[in-house]
Amino acid sequence: MKLWGGRFRKEENKLMEDFNSSLQVDKRLYAEDIKGSIAHVKMLMKCRLLTDEEGENITEGLTSILEDIENEKLIVEGEFEDIHSFVETNLTERIGETAKKLHTARSRNDQVALDVRLYAKNKAGEVLKYINELQGNIEKKAEENNVIMPGYTHLQRAQVVTFQHHLMAYYSMLSRDKKRILNALEIMDESPLGCGALAGTTHTIDRELTAKDLGFSKPVDNFLDGVSDRDYLIELMSAFSIIMMHLSRLSEELILWSSQEFKFITIDDAYSTGSSIMPQKKNPDAAELTRGKTGRVYGSLISLLTTMKGLPLAYNKDLQEDKEVFFDSLDTTLACLQIMSNMISTIEVNSKNMKKAVKEGFLNATEVADYLVSKGVAFRDAHSIVGSIVIYCEDHKKAIEELTLEELRSLSSIIEEDIYEFIDYENILRKGIKITLLK
Ligand code: ARG
Repeated sequence: MKLWGGRFRKEENKLMEDFNSSLQVDKRLYAEDIKGSIAHVKMLMKCRLLTDEEGENITEGLTSILEDIENEKLIVEGEFEDIHSFVETNLTERIGETAKKLHTARSRNDQVALDVRLYAKNKAGEVLKYINELQGNIEKKAEENNVIMPGYTHLQRAQVVTFQHHLMAYYSMLSRDKKRILNALEIMDESPLGCGALAGTTHTIDRELTAKDLGFSKPVDNFLDGVSDRDYLIELMSAFSIIMMHLSRLSEELILWSSQEFKFITIDDAYSTGSSIMPQKKNPDAAELTRGKTGRVYGSLISLLTTMKGLPLAYNKDLQEDKEVFFDSLDTTLACLQIMSNMISTIEVNSKNMKKAVKEGFLNATEVADYLVSKGVAFRDAHSIVGSIVIYCEDHKKAIEELTLEELRSLSSIIEEDIYEFIDYENILRKGIKITLLK
């Protein structure tokens, strides 16, 4: 079953065999592995390194393996070293001796580098799809709720915004996340097939052909680099980490907003869980798990960066560790994007409570200062005058706009009747973040 038994006098130790095997992790690369092999065979035929009959034979065998795995007639399991050994061994069982020619002018080093690139390219497309879906749901929820809300700095009520504008901040973050993924895709768009183990091959092969056939823009420039770098995974995992950081911040806000202290939103029952002891509890677990899983995605990124940092060129077995962390970071990001998408589309916005919080928070204080500036007061002086207005309001339990003109003029004689229009929340929104409330 081993692809390399020839030079060994002793059997591999069983513990070592298990330790070395990556099949449980890399089995998900079966389709890419077979696709890559078929392209390789096609190229070997064209370059007359395989006869047409041999090539067709191998291709048919590989295709039948792919079909059988897909139909669950063939289960990827057993004591194989990795997915490459699994496919080649199965091919030999199916078509016999000719299978042994498949690995001509190839190493598992360029093979695995190819498989991972193909897989990552495909899955990055899926990430983009779910980001788009989430953005669509964010935009819809935002549009349906262009209601007034307190904006915060230091988690203290600061200035008036709308729920729409607040939520759309995440839309903007996700737009940049997409650009990062697209950039990573562009950078990784080179085929490592043909690099061999590290030094190419003495056979006359056609790397341009396999690159084109497999959908890459070109073959990699350098053989040692092609088999030994994983920067493209690190780049994608960085992009995933940033996505997760954004989802985690959104989660944090959903958790806060759904608390009894805020009561700004209600998270749907379908994305909440209860307590085994406290009957009244409804917990925002989906958001909390997303926030929690962010740590895992960061961890995977740091793990691979650390794996890579001391590796001499070219391939080292350490590189086998790339897949487990990459897959985990990918799966986690995909799952969180989907759950967030569903959660956002089902939240209920309690606009009354948001409005109440705006009214109670002196959220037009900055605009009172702006008003004074418009009447010729220097901003720093205006700031100080408004400070005393706020103290007055606190003492008299009133909002600024609830003060009479007389009260206001006792604090600054410059103030006139037109202040009320100036500091009206809807007018502030129109002038500030340039938003008009629909309702
Ligand atoms: N399972 C290996 C990996 O994931 C495949 C490459 C093995 N190459 C080798 N020279 N042992 O990296």
